[in-house]
Amino acid sequence: MVPFEPNVSRDVYAQRRARLAANLGDGALVLYGGELRTRSNDTEFRFRPDSDFHYLTGLREPGAVMVLRAGAAPKFVLFVRARDRDAEIWAGRRVGPEGAMARYGADAAHPLGELAEQLPKLLDGVANVHVPLGRWRALDQHVQRAIDHLRRRNRWGETPPDALCDARTTVGEDRMTKDPAAMASLRQAVEISTHAHLAAMGALRPGMFEYQIEALLEYEFRRRGAQAAAYGSIVGGGDNATILHYVENDDELRDGELLLIDAGAEVDLFAADISRTLPIGGRFSPAQRDVYDIVLRANTAGIAGAVVGGDIDSIHRTCLRVLCEGLASLGLLAGDIDEALEKETYKRYYMHRTSHWLGADVHDAGHYTLGRTPRPLQPGFVLTVEPGLYIPADDELAPPELRGCGIRIEDDVLVCEQGPEVLTWRVPKTMDEIEAIMAAAR
Ligand code: GLY
Ligand code: MN
Ligand code: MN
Repeated sequence: MVPFEPNVSRDVYAQRRARLAANLGDGALVLYGGELRTRSNDTEFRFRPDSDFHYLTGLREPGAVMVLRAGAAPKFVLFVRARDRDAEIWAGRRVGPEGAMARYGADAAHPLGELAEQLPKLLDGVANVHVPLGRWRALDQHVQRAIDHLRRRNRWGETPPDALCDARTTVGEDRMTKDPAAMASLRQAVEISTHAHLAAMGALRPGMFEYQIEALLEYEFRRRGAQAAAYGSIVGGGDNATILHYVENDDELRDGELLLIDAGAEVDLFAADISRTLPIGGRFSPAQRDVYDIVLRANTAGIAGAVVGGDIDSIHRTCLRVLCEGLASLGLLAGDIDEALEKETYKRYYMHRTSHWLGADVHDAGHYTLGRTPRPLQPGFVLTVEPGLYIPADDELAPPELRGCGIRIEDDVLVCEQGPEVLTWRVPKTMDEIEAIMAAAR
C-alpha cells in the first residue's frame, strides 16, 4: 500500500490569502497559530495549529502570528520563534524568520519578540482590524496595545483603525465553500477513514475491548498518512452507545449488543466524521433491525435534502419526521406525529441536531444562519447527516430487547449543483452489507 503524500502546495495558501485580502477592504487580519498545551507536569499535547491560521499559512509551529494586509506592502507578515540551536536540539526544529519567508512565502518575517514593536507599524492607517475576538487573550492584548499606541500617536500622524471585526467570521465564511485543495484533503481524510471503518468491521469480535477497536481505527489513520484522529474516537458498545460523546472506550464488547463507532481521520487539517453501528456478534437481532432500519431511512431522507437552496433546518425536520414515525411504530411515541414534533417528545430518544458543517474543524467554521433564517446550502458546502436513536438502558417505555440500544449513521455530504455527493459512500451502511463484510472476515 502506498501511503498518501501531503498534497498541499504553497500556492494553495497564497491563493487563500489573496482571496481573503480581496474581502478585507482596507483592513488587516491578525491571527495566532496557537501554543503548546500542558498534558502533565512538563509534557505537552502534540501541537495542532489553529485552523484559521493553518488554513492561510500551512505553518504548523507553536507561537506564530500572521498579519495579512490588503492595502499596503508588506502584505503577508509572519512572526515566528527565533532560531535557537539548544532549544531545537531539545524540542524540535523551528522555521525561523528566514524560513518563514523562504518556505512559507512571507513578504516579511520577524522573531516573535518583535511583535509588540512591529504591530503598531503594520496596523497604522488600516481601517478595520480583523482578529478572532476573545479567542486568544494574549493576541487581543497585543492588538489592543497597538491600537492604543496609534491613538496616542495620532497627533504625530499615526492613524488607529476605526473598527475591530471578528476574524472568525471573516475566515470562516471563506472556509464554508471548499476550494479544490480543501476538497482534496477532505476526500483523503474520508478515504483513510473508510479503510479504518472497514478494518474495524473485519476485526470486531465479542470479547474484544472498545479500546482495541479504537487502537485499530487510529492505527489505520496513521499508517495511511493521516496526521491524527480528527476528534476523540467514539467506540461505544451496548448502552455506551447511548452516550453521545462517549470516549472512555474501556468496556468489553458483548455478543448480541451493538457497537457504535464515530471516528474520522484528519488529513492536512481537514476532518472526516463518520459513524456506523455494527452488530458485535456479526448479525443484527430482529429488534435491532427495526431500530436500525428507521435510522437508516432517516439518514437517506436527510441526505436527499442536501441540495442547493436546501438548509440544515429542513434536513433536521425531514429526519425528525422519519424518526418520529419509526418511534411511533415501535410504540415509543404516543399521540400523533405532528404533536410529537411540536412538543419535542422525541427528544427522549433523539436529542441532538442532525447536521453540522465539516472542514478544517470537525464542527466547522461558518454561520448557520443568515439574518435570522437558516442558511441556504450552496455548491461547495460540506455537512454531515447523522440521525440516530438512543434508547436509555433504564427506559421503562421500551421493551427489554430495545433498552440500551444506541444507533447513529453519519455520512459526510458535499453539496453540488447536480445534487448531494455522499463522500462517505464507500463505508457500508445497509445491514446486509455490514453483515456480509463481517461474515467474510470470520
Ligand atoms: N463526532 C462528532 C460529531 O459527530 O459531531
Ligand atoms: Mn458529526
Ligand atoms: Mn461524528
